[in-house]
Amino acid sequence: MTAILTTSLPLPLHSRGKVRDTYRLTDRELLMVSTDRISAFDVVLPTPIPDKGRVLNQLSASWFKETSGLVRNHLAPDQSIPSELLQGQPDLEQRSMRVMTAKPVMFECVVRGYISGSGWKDYQRTGSIAGEGLPPGLRESDRLPEPIFTPATKAMTGHDENISRAELAKRAGRELAQTLEGLSLSLYRFGAERALERGLILADTKFEFGWHDSEVILIDEVMTPDSSRFWDLEQYRPGGPQASFDKQYLRDYLEQLGWNKQPPAPPLPDEVVAGTSARYLEALRRFSVSYARGRV
Ligand SMILES: Nc1ncnc2c1ncn2[C@@H]1O[C@H](COP(=O)(O)OP(=O)(O)OP(=O)(O)O)[C@@H](O)[C@H]1O
Ligand SMILES: [Mg+2]
Repeated sequence: MTAILTTSLPLPLHSRGKVRDTYRLTDRELLMVSTDRISAFDVVLPTPIPDKGRVLNQLSASWFKETSGLVRNHLAPDQSIPSELLQGQPDLEQRSMRVMTAKPVMFECVVRGYISGSGWKDYQRTGSIAGEGLPPGLRESDRLPEPIFTPATKAMTGHDENISRAELAKRAGRELAQTLEGLSLSLYRFGAERALERGLILADTKFEFGWHDSEVILIDEVMTPDSSRFWDLEQYRPGGPQASFDKQYLRDYLEQLGWNKQPPAPPLPDEVVAGTSARYLEALRRFSVSYARGRV
């Protein structure tokens, strides 16, 4: 399988995001293609990561199926890819998903079960995360007493901005805010429990929702290494940062390089490409291996 930075299908382009190329398949359906692009610090890198698109797509597809009893999602009932699109694109089936077109809700729904990343920085400064009061004395990577919902605006360009739950209610309306929070927390709980069965901790994750036929449905991607922090349960040692399946390895490489985090991003050496690809594949492998419940 070759690594792909940009796709070019004979369909009208709906959008090209940092990772996914989305095409209009019909009036009501999109074809979302996960490329092998990777971004760090919101900048897309010039080097593709083999297998990444396929891993993201397969993990999302399986979560959409597993969580369909909790919330309706954008997965189209018919997942077949028209054969004329598959010509010369042998891996298109593995990296793409047919979805119902939705109007994205312009807020990112972040749930944190553990304290890490920007949440940890916020807590050290303010004793809370995005205004959510927390007990004193938490260490980096500690489990929170309860998972918390910390929404952010979905910036069209640049970085997303964290907002408080009160601010979300003000901007989105109380009813929508409550729906987003309730669905996000139940999805997180479901995912975190499943992850533990596979020897993984789902430290935090981000969901996106959209409007479809006057209903709020789950869209985008679900509980992948791009939208989540996964940690190995056996190596979990709170009190510092955790080794993870997410992009931390790549971020660490870029940090020591001294790149100013402004485009253009530097190309990645083969070793970092291989290490990153291996981490995505490992996440997929772990999710397809069931751990005995008794172990965790
Ligand atoms: N069912 C859907 N209908 C319409 N848009 C969708 C649907 N599912 C996902 N999207 C949107 O498609 C895009 C997916 O591409 P990608 O994840 O690469 O974008 P991105 O760079 O992360 O952009 P963004 O900052 O908007 O999330 C996102 O903007 C997402 O909101
Ligand atoms: Mg995205």
